[in-house]
Amino acid sequence: MVIAQADVSASLDAALAHRLIDDLGSAAHAGEPFDLGARFASPFAVLMAGELLGLSLHDTERIDGFYADFAGAMEYSGNPEPMRRADAARAELTALLLDELAAARRAPGHSLTSQVANDGSHGLSDDELAAQLRVVLSGAIETIQASVVNTLYMLAQHPDQEAAAMDDRSLLAGAQEEARCLIPPVSFIEARTAEPVVIAGVEVPAREFVGVSVLAANRDPAHFDDPLRFDITRPNATRSLSFSFGVHACLGLHLARAQTTGAIAALWDRFGRLQVVDAVEPEGFAFRKPAVMRVAASR
Ligand code: HEM
Repeated sequence: MVIAQADVSASLDAALAHRLIDDLGSAAHAGEPFDLGARFASPFAVLMAGELLGLSLHDTERIDGFYADFAGAMEYSGNPEPMRRADAARAELTALLLDELAAARRAPGHSLTSQVANDGSHGLSDDELAAQLRVVLSGAIETIQASVVNTLYMLAQHPDQEAAAMDDRSLLAGAQEEARCLIPPVSFIEARTAEPVVIAGVEVPAREFVGVSVLAANRDPAHFDDPLRFDITRPNATRSLSFSFGVHACLGLHLARAQTTGAIAALWDRFGRLQVVDAVEPEGFAFRKPAVMRVAASR
């Protein structure tokens, strides 16, 4: 199942993006630099996810912090502390989601959460429902933030293509695809083999852990012509592994595209070109984006 790009989500995106841009305050509108991720892309992703699922995720910093802790635990550094933080974050988020399920039973509505909370026929326990909600949320939060920030990061480094996309907004679709290809928000996918397979001449038995570097696959010269070149008109950019593929391909891929486009279009409408004042290099083993990117309005 794939969540389609419904009209309702497109209009929600734009309305939410404009509300958050209003909330940035007069200093940002007068050209003072602000952190694009922390002040805009993160609350945008968290609040959109909440709207979609019918969850009241108003403490966006707290929710974003949980997902930063989950991402930190996927760095495989050998240090147990990130794993401990991720476990604590999971417990806290689960408690919050269990409260949401209880609230949806007290006051049923039309949201996805309310429907699963009030439908006993699926046979899932509340802990199992909370686990599913955690997966959808994790799909929709860290990734959308990164997709918005990474696209603007790449465009800022290629001003001619940025100007072209600002002028002809239809090019934004290719721009975000290409940015996601070069800086995949999910840059490492974990899987387990269902049966024995041979990968590049190596025999991998059944039930074996396989780690896939999306970053490397997306730069495969056998698939992408001159793979390190940023080209918003690359004809096969959608063929990257950024949304994975097969039965477990991203559930929200159409929505993700609509959200990224909607957020960037709203920023351009209100601020003109966003000048990058300072940004650190995109980083992260499993989830990838610049940790900080401060931008300023050009008008
Ligand atoms: C640009 C944004 C996004 C990117 C780059 C992205 C990327 C991915 C990737 C690579 C996977 C496969 C992960 C794996 O196999 O380990 C995945 C799965 C998933 N994504 Fe996304 N995603 C994005 C946005 C979203 C949104 C907005 C939602 C929900 C509304 C979502 C929901 C999910 C879910 C539920 C799965 C698990 C699917 C399954 O296992 O069957 N994602 N996503």
